Amino acid sequence: MYKFLIRPLFFKFDPERIHHFTFSLIRFSHRIGLGGVFRSIYKLENPKLERELFGLQFPNPVGLAAGFDKDAKLYKELSNLGFGFIEIGTVTPKPQDGNEKPRLFRLKNDAAIINRMGFNNGGVAEAVERLKTNPLQGHKNRVLIGGNIGKNKITPNEEAVNDYIICFDALFDYVDYFVVNVSSPNTPNLRALQEKKPLTDLLQTLQDKNNLKQKRKPILLKIAPDLTDEQLLDIIDIVATTKIDGVIATNTTISREGLTSDNKNEMGGLSGKPLTKRSTEVIRFLSQKSNKAFPIIGVGGIHSAKDALEKLDAGADLIQLYTGFIYEGPGLITEINKAILAK
Ligand code: FNR
Repeated sequence: MYKFLIRPLFFKFDPERIHHFTFSLIRFSHRIGLGGVFRSIYKLENPKLERELFGLQFPNPVGLAAGFDKDAKLYKELSNLGFGFIEIGTVTPKPQDGNEKPRLFRLKNDAAIINRMGFNNGGVAEAVERLKTNPLQGHKNRVLIGGNIGKNKITPNEEAVNDYIICFDALFDYVDYFVVNVSSPNTPNLRALQEKKPLTDLLQTLQDKNNLKQKRKPILLKIAPDLTDEQLLDIIDIVATTKIDGVIATNTTISREGLTSDNKNEMGGLSGKPLTKRSTEVIRFLSQKSNKAFPIIGVGGIHSAKDALEKLDAGADLIQLYTGFIYEGPGLITEINKAILAK
């Protein structure tokens, strides 16, 4: 139904408006009691799908990538669509509007999206208020929540670490794991924080804070697909030095290779099918060169069960969807979980 009815209709309208409309629709359908119907259609519960990673029990290995539910407004409803984990954010300390609209573009011919949202979000305090009412907290086999954190646009890179600390402290009691996002192409200079020295300092500072807590939380690093092999080797070193828990590979790309859509030259980060191959390459490189030293969450251009299995074969322990979820609908989550079970 999604691909033949909902998608053709939704794709006639402005992507950002449809994003908000979808939120209202999903919320409304839950208000009138359809949550259980979604659960019965999309949710697979099977011990063989469960994964234990960094001390957490994931009900299944298919997650929602960051950027879809930036402000933690819909994670309760989305948890009925079959995801094993949902990553909220990127949140920043202060609320910010993000870039001017239009800033979200569908590249239909390429099954892709370009976005230059620029961390539009209501600020970490607002997200915390919503997460405080998480009805799933404490439940066995529940959908886990990741907190993806970043810095405000106006914060200079030299002070960026303070922004990450603010978000880390504020979210600490309300998320299951953290993701340090230094790889969005839409905040000027953010990706310079991926360089060895500033990145080691940033992650070490967060780890030191983490180690002071009664029970530490997993910290993962989200990286860009545009890093060179040398930079990826640095990432392996940095994970070893700072002892963070894992890597999310990858964020959107600044490459425009092989695109055919008219709007292919819009500025921003490209996601979806054109990213599939490169993000799998990055996962394979990290996994092989590190000798599987740390868990990897694979994300980038997963539009089918086959794409998902390829990421897992390349060394990913869990996977996430964003653009594939927009193009294929929630049925993709079930399809991937079924394929994992069949394997
Ligand atoms: C994103 N992504 C993203 N990532 C992140 O770490 N923080 C964010 O705020 C966002 N925001 C965001 C907005 C939009 C509109 C898109 C399409 C993507 C990146 C996302 O989580 C994922 O890493 C990439 O999109 C690659 O996966 P897909 O989309 O090819 O499955």
